[in-house]
Amino acid sequence: MNKRPLARYPALRLRRPRISDWSRRLYAETHISPSDFLWAIILKDGKDIREPIDAMPGVFRLSPDQAVKAAQEAKSLGIPALALFPYTDADGRTPGGEEAFNPDSLMCRTAKAIKDAVPDIGLMADVALDPYTDHGHDGLMRDGEILNDETLEILVRQSIVQARAGFDIITPSDMMDGRVGAIRAGLDGEGFQNIQIMAYAAKYASAFYGPYREAIGSAGVLKGDKRTYQMNPANSDEALREVALDLAEGADSVMVKPGLAYLDIVARVKEEFGAPTFVFQVSGEYAMIKAAAQNGWLDGERAMLESLLAFKRAGANGIITYFAADAAKALQR
Ligand code: PBG
Repeated sequence: MNKRPLARYPALRLRRPRISDWSRRLYAETHISPSDFLWAIILKDGKDIREPIDAMPGVFRLSPDQAVKAAQEAKSLGIPALALFPYTDADGRTPGGEEAFNPDSLMCRTAKAIKDAVPDIGLMADVALDPYTDHGHDGLMRDGEILNDETLEILVRQSIVQARAGFDIITPSDMMDGRVGAIRAGLDGEGFQNIQIMAYAAKYASAFYGPYREAIGSAGVLKGDKRTYQMNPANSDEALREVALDLAEGADSVMVKPGLAYLDIVARVKEEFGAPTFVFQVSGEYAMIKAAAQNGWLDGERAMLESLLAFKRAGANGIITYFAADAAKALQR
């Protein structure tokens, strides 16, 4: 005989599995591990340099020797790949961004040094002209206009030079039309059939790139904004068209960028195409978590891990993040 009228109580209690840690772990639908991370690293020419970046506390511009140390650390933490981005001062910039295809550039020298020391780590190269142009745009500029097809030729040269230097993943971030197909053909023509292309397929004209512009020396340099080539944050169907094009042109994987404000795009892209889908947790997202944590306004480590988990839950296969090493260490604890 039941004294309590059962019908008044829930038969199914979703709180039940939440009661203990072992059970919460068993019921977890999503996991993050160091294998999910590509570690974003900012380079600066010189030796023994670890230069702080004001808007990105905890991130440093690294000289090639220090980048090698970071690669060794990544390897020991189980992080599969590094994503490299170069700082260039105003003197090193030109209207045509020729440094982009200099085989002896900071990017190429660093890639060689890393591959000599840590041959089995993956290296991702950002392809775009913005670190090298005196106007800070990703493409060539004439009369205030960013030229599409003229830029493609340079991007192809840049990609080939990067592949030759040892980069494994060519990652066009410029948002010119047709660049994936042009780069694929260019790489194949040089015998680089096994070099991957990860397309920044859905890259939005975002305020969250602010700290990055400081990091690579584009902040005071950039003339205007990038809205004639990067996507309008209002658009979602258009992201699917961008992804479809890049996959058709031969991209091995696609990326959505920024991350946290665009999880709906990550989920739609993954669902629609089922292709390897990456997400970039950009500089501004890093800065927000760091700044709030430094003020004691939130628990920085938990916010970091929660944001990374959210990307996986939305469907991302991996995350390009400045947090990679910190997160890998936190996961070991
Ligand atoms: C540009 C590029 C940008 C980032 C990566 N590649 C910035 C931009 O488009 O202005 C942003 C990365 C970040 O904010 O962390 N080629």
